[in-house]
Amino acid sequence: MAEEVKVLVICGSLRKRSYNAALTRALPELAPPEMKLITAPPVETLPLYNEDLQNASGFPGPANDLAAAIRSADGVLFVTPEYNWSMPGGLKNAIDWVSRVREKGDPTYAAFKHRVFAIASASTGQHGGLRSLMALRQILELGCGAFVIPEQVAVPWADTAFDEIDNLSDGRLLNLLRAQLDRLVETARLMM
Ligand code: FNR
Repeated sequence: MAEEVKVLVICGSLRKRSYNAALTRALPELAPPEMKLITAPPVETLPLYNEDLQNASGFPGPANDLAAAIRSADGVLFVTPEYNWSMPGGLKNAIDWVSRVREKGDPTYAAFKHRVFAIASASTGQHGGLRSLMALRQILELGCGAFVIPEQVAVPWADTAFDEIDNLSDGRLLNLLRAQLDRLVETARLMM
């Protein structure tokens, strides 16, 4: 069997009955067999980023944990809602913390280098969170220097897109997700 590709999945919603969390649960069935999906450690206890806090007491545990989880993965997939045409503040805050985590000798933005990134969204609106993906892509690519694959998936009308056991039924979306995960594995291999 082909070498395992570890993909960390980071969900941008903290909501219990989140559609984005449902989307993350749909991924194992769509992923190629060599992809190992790992759920990111929780970030809800992260304080708002403040450089004074970092200087006084170092990085909070969840920031270090998330940075370490990203660094031990071959690829990272963000699955996020759209809030007011952009990404949720909590997710941006987590990225801000991780972007500053650096061990001795590390380059800047260490967690965002040498691995591949991908982005997906679900929203109850007609665009499926597309604008949150545009904002997230800009932050990852231009802000953090990450390589984000062009394939991205936005699930519209999320309140009716999933059935009662969280299955996504739209064949077009399922094919887009499969193609995205295939490309993620293919690109991760090139970067390993
Ligand atoms: C939203 N929602 C939303 N949807 C959208 O398509 N475009 C938007 O700009 C916004 N803005 C927005 C702001 C805030 C503060 C909230 C709480 C919600 C609706 C959003 O898509 C919906 O609540 C999703 O269900 C959120 O994703 P989860 O939590 O279900 O994963």
